[in-house]
Amino acid sequence: MRPRVSLSLGHSSYQLAPATGALSTALRDGYNAGKAARFTRWHLPTADLRDPSPRTKRSYAIMDGLTVIGSCGLWSGSYGGLEFYIAIFDERHRGRGLGSLAVKKLCEVAFRELRAQRVELGVYPENKRAIGVYERCGFKREAILRRWIYNDGKWRDALWMSLLRREWGGRR
Ligand SMILES: CC(C)(COP(=O)(O)OP(=O)(O)OC[C@H]1O[C@@H](n2cnc3c(N)ncnc32)[C@H](O)[C@@H]1OP(=O)(O)O)[C@@H](O)C(=O)NCCC(=O)NCCS
Repeated sequence: MRPRVSLSLGHSSYQLAPATGALSTALRDGYNAGKAARFTRWHLPTADLRDPSPRTKRSYAIMDGLTVIGSCGLWSGSYGGLEFYIAIFDERHRGRGLGSLAVKKLCEVAFRELRAQRVELGVYPENKRAIGVYERCGFKREAILRRWIYNDGKWRDALWMSLLRREWGGRR
C-alpha cells in the first residue's frame, strides 16, 4: 500500500490517500454528485480511477480527516506524458489554496518518482479558475482540441496544457 501524502495549508491539514477499496465508492459518488461533474469527465464510464488499474499511475482521495472531499491523480498519458486530473467536490474547500498545493504535489510525484517527461491535462476553456491554478503552477497552453468530448449535454472543446520536466526543474 502506498503511503498517504500530507498537504499542510495554514491551520488546515489535508491528506492524499491512495484511492483503494472503500474510498473508490466515495470518489465515484463525489464525481456524480453534480458539484464536480460539470467541470470534469471523470464520472464518465471510460474513466477508471481505481489504484491500481491499467491506466492509473496514481489515484488519490483528497481527505479532510476521515471525509473524502476531492480526488486527484495521474493517468498514463501519451508517450512521455502523464495526464493529470483533480476535483475538489466540497465547495467549502475551494479557493483556499488546496487545489494549487495538490497540483504541485502531484507534479513532484510525476517528475521525481515516475520520471515523466511531461505532465498534461485537458480543461474546459471556460473553467477560468482551474486554468488560473494550472498557469500559476507553471503549465502552458498547448492547443484547443475541438469538439473533444460529449459531456453535460453538449459537445465540448478542451484546452490542452502541459508542464515539461525541464520547466518544473527550473521552478523549484
Ligand atoms: C479547479 C480546482 C481544483 C482548484 O482548486 P482550488 O483549491 O479551488 O484552487 P486554489 O484555491 O489553489 O486557487 C484558486 C483561487 O484561490 C485563490 N487562492 C489561492 N490560495 C489562496 C489563499 N490561501 N487564500 C485565499 N485565496 C487563495 C487563488 O488566487 C485563486 O483565485 P481565483 O480563482 O479567484 O483567481 C477546484 O476549484 C475544483 O475542484 N473545481 C471543480 C472541479 C474542476 O474544475 N476540476 C478541474 C477540471 S480540469
